[in-house]
Amino acid sequence: MARRKKIYEGKAKTLFEGPEPGTIVQYFKDDATAFNAEKKDVIEGKGVLNNLLSEYFMVGLGQIGVPTHFLKRLNMREQLVRSCEIVPLEVIVRNYAAGSMSKRLGIDEGTQLPRPIVEYCLKDDALGDPLVSEEHIAAFGWASQQDMEDILSLTLRVNDFMSGVMLAVGIRLIDFKIEFGRVYDGDFQRLVLADEISPDSCRLWDIETGRKLDKDVFRRDLGSLTDAYSEVARRLGVMPNTP
Ligand code: C5P
Repeated sequence: MARRKKIYEGKAKTLFEGPEPGTIVQYFKDDATAFNAEKKDVIEGKGVLNNLLSEYFMVGLGQIGVPTHFLKRLNMREQLVRSCEIVPLEVIVRNYAAGSMSKRLGIDEGTQLPRPIVEYCLKDDALGDPLVSEEHIAAFGWASQQDMEDILSLTLRVNDFMSGVMLAVGIRLIDFKIEFGRVYDGDFQRLVLADEISPDSCRLWDIETGRKLDKDVFRRDLGSLTDAYSEVARRLGVMPNTP
């Protein structure tokens, strides 16, 4: 492999300088972390599954008109994406209570919410990605009012798309996290969906059995993470042996 410049190494992905200006190679690692990296392991094959699944969701979202950073998949572990300036927010959508919301508000996991609830967390590992309000976002200038309007409408479209795709294969989309980036065309700025969408960043429950098919399998020691992610890929027809 030719030497290339590493731009950033995160918990689950490494970013390298891409072949053209304005592009980045996103490499999906097998590393799994939870609880802000207090729990760690290497799960063979996770990177390949997340690369393929994220490609599948990003391409589908692109087809319904949601702009994304995805350009093309390069191989089993890498995809070429547009370089963008990441908005420092984790955008979480919840359709059913689970995880930190259940803990924080005392709502039983699996309770259907009256409508999708969107939450924002500051992207800051050292602080444990704290929940923030739109007041904080505006006051500290993390995103403009226009950005927030665009983020909300794109996020709800992502939720509708992802919920439908999952429902069609017998999976309930409990919640998920996405990130946005800014790309600049001259003076013109627009937002794109960035990072990844994969079972690492969603909660996915089998509708019939309630089986968890997401990173909670790792967080809560519920069995094989590769089996869970492979099941999602199998149902969606996203096979790891696709060239
Ligand atoms: O932990 P919590 O219940 O707040 O997570 C909500 C959703 O956001 C889950 O699907 C989780 O996997 C995802 N998430 C994430 N990265 C984080 C925090 C949450 O992908 N740093």
